Amino acid sequence: MFICSNCGYGSQSWLGKCPQCGQWNTMKRVTEEKPKIKGIGRKAKKITITNLQKTSSSTKKNRQPTGLYEIDRVLGGGFINDEVALVSGEPGIGKSTLLLQLAKNIKLFYLSGEESLDQIRNRAERLKLPLKNILFSSTIETNTIISAIDQVKNQINLVIIDSIQTLTIKELGSPSGTISQIRESTKRLVEYAKRAKVPIFIIGHITKEGIVAGPKTLEHLVDCVLVFEGNKRSPFRILRAKKNRFGPTDEIGIFTMKSTGLTEVINPTIFIKDEGIKPVSGKATVGIIEGKRPLFVQIEALAVSSFLAMPRRVVKGMNYNKILLLLAVMRKYLHLPLDKYDLYLNVVGGLKITSPAADLGIVASLLSIFKNKPLPIKSVFSGEVGLLGEIREIYGQEKITKEAKRLGFKKIFTAKKINRVNDLLSLL
Ligand code: TYD
Ligand code: MG
Repeated sequence: MFICSNCGYGSQSWLGKCPQCGQWNTMKRVTEEKPKIKGIGRKAKKITITNLQKTSSSTKKNRQPTGLYEIDRVLGGGFINDEVALVSGEPGIGKSTLLLQLAKNIKLFYLSGEESLDQIRNRAERLKLPLKNILFSSTIETNTIISAIDQVKNQINLVIIDSIQTLTIKELGSPSGTISQIRESTKRLVEYAKRAKVPIFIIGHITKEGIVAGPKTLEHLVDCVLVFEGNKRSPFRILRAKKNRFGPTDEIGIFTMKSTGLTEVINPTIFIKDEGIKPVSGKATVGIIEGKRPLFVQIEALAVSSFLAMPRRVVKGMNYNKILLLLAVMRKYLHLPLDKYDLYLNVVGGLKITSPAADLGIVASLLSIFKNKPLPIKSVFSGEVGLLGEIREIYGQEKITKEAKRLGFKKIFTAKKINRVNDLLSLL
């Protein structure tokens, strides 16, 4: 058998170029060991079998808060004493800043192959972090890192590896950043974390398309995958749990990037720019729920006549297929000449929304731009649109309504008031 040392692709014959990752001269011959099967069961090792009732839950007992409320909310109250989390995001989004800021409340061992001691110290000083809470090393060899962690494990609360792409294991022979290096390094770190009960957060870069450069292949190895996202031109950053063995996956943490670092955001209307006195067409405020938290965001729609056979649909911050579905519903039940227009849809503030509660507001904003009439001032929409044009109540609606009233929204349009998309016509 021949295995690619870069990506692990297997083939029966030797190939000059790996068909999976496209690297040259990476196929290496491996000989399969024949398993020795003699007297199955006779010499099997004794294993431990435990009755669950006689054990106590370790997840509750050993949870440690980081002290940053927004991170703790996403983790499920803090991290577990042997938890390995992968924190992924595009380069420059603020992963290093976020994790270094944990030193505000807990003791860190920060290992960076990306930045030097001086850079990290300067950053920590600028962020006004207590320097005594940070141990630093620029080692990048995985085995060396593990023995370094073992040396200091009693003086720290959490290990940060920045980033997985810089780690190397010498005996593998391939350069750092290759899939085999990344995967093997993660495996060894996970194995150590579980054995020595040391929590480790690993930073991993992903590309704009969200594909690999490594982290994708690691998701099943770690306990928790946190994704840090946002638009680099906007100060908002969102932390989401994509996978969480010890906590929820629907909570989000919201931050703003300032010159003093990342600040936690608690205000649910942070994404709303004041509309002033004069309302505009094509803009709708939606009330959605992310995790247990109500949020209010604005949707902007623009329609311009198209000269293309396939008119453009440009969507930012929302699921593209969901928009196509809503457009189909609008064509069928509102009889709008949608196929003569290029359509642009955007979420103000760079937030990505996944909640179906935004459906009604998206339809309302499109309708408003087509009618060239603004929606009622200080109004908020929340409801899911079904394929038959009906509006369905969403999970958590009461919470959104209550919060909207508290925040001073004058009109709250939900499934209770609007039964079908057609009913929106009466608002314009
Ligand atoms: P960084 O944490 O280095 O990103 P990552 O580790 O994800 O690559 O942060 C990158 C950006 O954040 C950088 O362009 C500068 C900006 N930044 C601030 O605006 N304020 C700050 O206090 C810090 C530390 C960074
Ligand atoms: Mg970084």
